[in-house]
Amino acid sequence: MKFLDALTIDQCFEQKELVLKLQSHWESHGSDPDHPYFYTLGVPFYSRPLESYFKATPRSNPLIHQHFNFLLGKVAKLISSELRTPVKVSNQLAFPGFHIYTKPMPQGGTVHFDLVTNSVIENFPEVIEGPLGYSFTLPLSLPEAGAGLNFWNYKYPLEIKLPETLSPKGPFPEDFIKLSLGNPEYIPYQLGKIYFFESHFLHQVAPSPILNPGEFRLTLQGHLVKSKAGYWVMFW
Ligand SMILES: [Fe+2]
Repeated sequence: MKFLDALTIDQCFEQKELVLKLQSHWESHGSDPDHPYFYTLGVPFYSRPLESYFKATPRSNPLIHQHFNFLLGKVAKLISSELRTPVKVSNQLAFPGFHIYTKPMPQGGTVHFDLVTNSVIENFPEVIEGPLGYSFTLPLSLPEAGAGLNFWNYKYPLEIKLPETLSPKGPFPEDFIKLSLGNPEYIPYQLGKIYFFESHFLHQVAPSPILNPGEFRLTLQGHLVKSKAGYWVMFW
C-alpha cells in the first residue's frame, strides 16, 4: 500500500461540491431501490455486463472529463511519477469515477480482490499486458467518525482450502476470511491522499457505522493496467 499526497482539504471540498452538483447523474445501488444508501458517478467495470459497460462509457466519459479534468490530471501525474511511466485514460474504458455513500454502513463492503484488472487484460489481449494491475482510492469527503479500508496481506489466489460454495475469485464471507487469515490491517482514510495498491491484494471497504446527516463518504476510485505500448491505462 502506497500513500500519495494529492489534494489539499480545500481542493477536496471543491471536488465534493462538483460531485454533489452532478447528483442527477448518480446511479443508485443497494437491495432496496426506495432506500438506496450507495451511489456511483461514472461507470465501474464491476457494475454491469460487459456490453452495457461499453455502451455506457461513451456517455459517461465526456461528463467526467468536463468536470474532473483537474482531478484526473493530478492523479495521473502522481501515479505516473510513482510508477515512473506515463499514465493515460482510454476512451475504450470508463474514466475513474466516484463511490458516494450517504448512509452509515455498519457491515462494510464485501471481502474481495479487484480482479476487474484481469477482465480488462482478457478483453484487450492485443493491447494490454498482464497480470499486474493497480487500484486506487482518493477520499474527497469523509464522516467525522472516520472511514477506511480493511487490507489483508494476501494475494489472489489464496493458498487456503475454500468451501465448495466459494469461488477462488471471491467475494468471501468476512468471518471465514478472518478465521482463515486473521484480522485485516485497518487503513484509516485521510482526505486528499491517494491509497494505491496492487489489485490482487484482498481488501474490503471497512464498516462506516456513523454517518451523520449531511455527511458523505465520497471517494474517487480507479484501476490501472499496463498497455503493451508501455504506458499505464487508468480506468474504472
Ligand atoms: Fe476493491
